[in-house]
Amino acid sequence: MRITIVGCGSIGSKLAMAADEMEEVKSIYLIDSREGLAAELASKLNKAVEVEDVEEELYHCDLVVEAASQEAARTIIPKVVARGVDIMVMSVGALVDDAFRESVASKAKSCESRIFIPSGAVCGTDGLRSSSVGELEDVELITTKGPKSLTGVDYMIEKGIDVNSLSEPTVVFSGTAREAVSLFPRNINVAATVSLLGMGFDKTKVTIVVDPASKSNSHELRIKGEFGEMTCHTYNVPSPDNPKTSYLAAMSAISALKRIVRNEWIGI
Ligand SMILES: NC(=O)c1ccc[n+]([C@@H]2O[C@H](COP(=O)([O-])OP(=O)(O)OC[C@H]3O[C@@H](n4cnc5c(N)ncnc54)[C@H](O)[C@@H]3O)[C@@H](O)[C@H]2O)c1
Repeated sequence: MRITIVGCGSIGSKLAMAADEMEEVKSIYLIDSREGLAAELASKLNKAVEVEDVEEELYHCDLVVEAASQEAARTIIPKVVARGVDIMVMSVGALVDDAFRESVASKAKSCESRIFIPSGAVCGTDGLRSSSVGELEDVELITTKGPKSLTGVDYMIEKGIDVNSLSEPTVVFSGTAREAVSLFPRNINVAATVSLLGMGFDKTKVTIVVDPASKSNSHELRIKGEFGEMTCHTYNVPSPDNPKTSYLAAMSAISALKRIVRNEWIGI
């Protein structure tokens, strides 16, 4: 398999290093808008080369991985699926726009490409997927972050909340997943993933808590429905190179790639 990774930051670089070790992966094309980053990463790997543009490689690429930003995802997904190439999306928040999501899903269907969305930084998506076969009553995500994760977020500045001066755990947002994804575009991809699997962006409830004592991002996923009730806690370790990204997010991208290249479907 030949893969293109767009975004060689925290997730993309770990994924590229893992892909380099997978015997099923024959070639890795790396792209990053930061000058020199893709070339530097490629120089440390055996199967990787830097390329300029995702479209250039689509004729000889089997899978594109977007690990860049919501903006990049909005640009790349339509181009990739229109050429019948599969894509793995990490910036899941880009799919909050209903018209965009429906259009790329329909394009993917007609062009026979697949859109893969890893579970990312949260556990419990397996149970949510199964439980959504029946009726769901309530899906709620309570995310707790340390001040570092939310420093400089526009919404906090507009609300006059100085995350670094809070002395106790404080709820800074409570609303729908649609609002959360739009207001915290870099911080709450898991709300998008949970919404896509369960009750959608308008019925999924999200609460964001800033805990001055917390150095990590934790998620409590509460699901209630015909199946019963489930609560899943994830206490993440932040990536050393990007405190906004949980280490588990990169691990989930690596594990998703393994499942795809090895055709392994355990626990689906
Ligand atoms: N699904 C999840 O659970 C989950 C969890 C954490 C992060 N994420 C998301 O995954 C994405 C990557 O996260 P990260 O921690 O690796 O970020 P990062 O900032 O460490 O790396 C992103 C890289 O992408 C590059 N980039 C940005 N726009 C680009 C473009 N248009 N073309 C090419 N390169 C571009 C940047 O230069 C940077 O090197 C982010 O959107 C983040 O919000 C998702």
